[in-house]
Amino acid sequence: MTQRLLENITSEDLKNLMSEYSARKIFLVTGKASYKRSGAKDFMESSLGNSEYLRFSEFEENPKYEDVVRGTKIFTDSGCDLIVAIGGGSAMDTAKLISAFAANTEVDSLGIVKGTELISKKGRPLIAIPTTAGTGSEATHFAVVYHGQRKYSVAHEYIFPEVAVLNPALTMSQPKYLTACSGFDALSQAMESFWSVNSNKESQKHAKEAIALLLESLPKAVNAPDEKSREMVMKSAYLAGKAINISKTTAAHAVSYAFTTFYSVPHGHAVFLTLPEFLEYNHGVSKEDLNDPRGVEYVKNAIEDLCKMFGANSASEGKEFLRDFASSIDVELSLEKLNISNYESKIVDNVNMERLGNNPRKISKEGLLALLKSK
Ligand SMILES: [Fe+2]
Repeated sequence: MTQRLLENITSEDLKNLMSEYSARKIFLVTGKASYKRSGAKDFMESSLGNSEYLRFSEFEENPKYEDVVRGTKIFTDSGCDLIVAIGGGSAMDTAKLISAFAANTEVDSLGIVKGTELISKKGRPLIAIPTTAGTGSEATHFAVVYHGQRKYSVAHEYIFPEVAVLNPALTMSQPKYLTACSGFDALSQAMESFWSVNSNKESQKHAKEAIALLLESLPKAVNAPDEKSREMVMKSAYLAGKAINISKTTAAHAVSYAFTTFYSVPHGHAVFLTLPEFLEYNHGVSKEDLNDPRGVEYVKNAIEDLCKMFGANSASEGKEFLRDFASSIDVELSLEKLNISNYESKIVDNVNMERLGNNPRKISKEGLLALLKSK
């Protein structure tokens, strides 16, 4: 899977990029109000010039299977032959699935979502342009979609965007808390990727680069944003996306989804709720609960490597560093202060087991409960 990355591009550059595809008609997948607010509308309209296009934005923030099916029908009927997704993770994930569903009509698309049917044909090319800096969806071959109450993650190399376009100006209108949340998603993804059982040298290189950029730029991007700091956060989100594209995420993500479902905590905030504790927990790995074939010492060293990046001399200091980092950008991590009560069974019984399986140290239900109580 190779991908072109274009950074800091102008509307003229985007126009030239789109013209390389000689498309008859372009299918734009965008957010609703955020399309105008982020500046994406102006950016796209000056890039599109006289090109024919159709815009699709009728999907929810956490896109539903039905939204994607509707989008696929509109796309197929429109005769569009190039897809440009410009928006947050939902816009990019919806576009990935529309491309896949439209190209694989001989199989049931719900089967693709549930993993019982395979994607066998590559769809129309997709250009991904994030307007939030966090999910890294522009750099992954995953797409999240909901069917009923269940969240599914479709993974296939054919839904990997051909081009990722980074334009930090599109994030400048993002308010403080949302910038913090999306930055925390990127930081969690990078850290979890680093200690994931699927990590390799390449994913760890991307993850470390993402973490270093975030430590340097996120407080400024949140508290006193300028284009440079937002550019660094956007690049780090892309790199964290590249990292998880190889390694996938682990325990903090596995536990986070229930905080979002039951307590409406935004994704980036939800993943950071347990990240400091999992840093310390994973460092305490032993032969009995080891989940990474590379061994106990390997896992401990990886966590110590991360701690060194924070200037921390122990996992406990690393945990405190992360807690302080959250308060420096006004993100509350106390469950009590967030009015999250009676969470025990809701959280513990709704852990994503697939993500948890990527964590280097196993954890039991009782262990997870104790970790949550220790917060
Ligand atoms: Fe995430």
